[in-house]
Amino acid sequence: MKRILTGDRPTGKLHLGHYVGSLKNRLRLQDEFEVYLLVADLHALTTNTDTRSLKQNIKDLVLDQLAVGIDPKKVTFCVQSQIPEDQELAVVFSMLVSKPRLERIPTLKEVMRDLKIETASLGLLSYPVLQAADILMVKANLVPVGKDQASHIELTREVAQKFNSTYKETFPVPEALIPKDISTLPGIDGRQKMSKSLNNAIFLSDDEEIVREKVMKMYTDPTRIHSTDPGHVEGNLLFIYHDAFNENRIAVEELKRRYQEGKVGDVEVKEKLASALNKFLGPIRTRRRRLEKETGLVEKILEEGTKKTRAQAKKTLQEAKAAMNLV
Ligand code: TRP
Repeated sequence: MKRILTGDRPTGKLHLGHYVGSLKNRLRLQDEFEVYLLVADLHALTTNTDTRSLKQNIKDLVLDQLAVGIDPKKVTFCVQSQIPEDQELAVVFSMLVSKPRLERIPTLKEVMRDLKIETASLGLLSYPVLQAADILMVKANLVPVGKDQASHIELTREVAQKFNSTYKETFPVPEALIPKDISTLPGIDGRQKMSKSLNNAIFLSDDEEIVREKVMKMYTDPTRIHSTDPGHVEGNLLFIYHDAFNENRIAVEELKRRYQEGKVGDVEVKEKLASALNKFLGPIRTRRRRLEKETGLVEKILEEGTKKTRAQAKKTLQEAKAAMNLV
């Protein structure tokens, strides 16, 4: 069976953007592949060395995934910092990648610009090298990621090929699995991406009232002044969300038609969106609340999964070292 590894930096609670961009896809993949889900806590340090909320963030990351239906019986959760073999592999790989190659990676420039980082730390620069080790330590074949991560998977492929040609055929050359549909959900302010740091997110764990308040603040068609003006549906934030989360397709089409005819006000469209979102989030919230109460649950899932992943990583590292005459 083909093997998948993907992961997230534990930076806080997950939101609807994560659901659309990756969680939804993971729910499907967990039934078809052998899946590893990495909690990339070392990667989280590349942009924030303050570790006080790290433990809570890790817990939230796992709980949110469990709440949407990711099943620890099907997938293997693991914690990056608890897998020394991952880091050892990264050191080996770092000899196969040049500094200018890493400086050309577009995500580096974006992160530095967005977070106003003047000079990158060695850790931030070599972020994709560690990511290559994450992926290759379990010899993953497929890596489901958002399109912003494509350049990292490209580097992983180069590393695998370089290792194989320099030493001995050891690693598969993995492929990125990038979702084709709307993989980036815009934020509630209409900006291109929903993100915690942009303060424009609806979190999976937001309660009903908060969801309603956030929806009421959402941007709509700026050209429409009165509810009797014909409105634009295409590119309209409210309808992008309706399309992504409202199960009642017939009602959505009807709403779109009335909107275009100037026969429905923004408030009704928003009320219906808030209800649809709360309907979608209801079972997720309930499950999360139940799981939160199970003391030691997340810890146990991470411990067992990490143990299993480490066994794989150990084997891979041995093989790599043997290929390099290091043992
Ligand atoms: N860089 C990824 C992100 O920011 C997270 C990540 C770390 C990852 N290691 C990985 C993703 C390995 C896929 C495979 O989203």
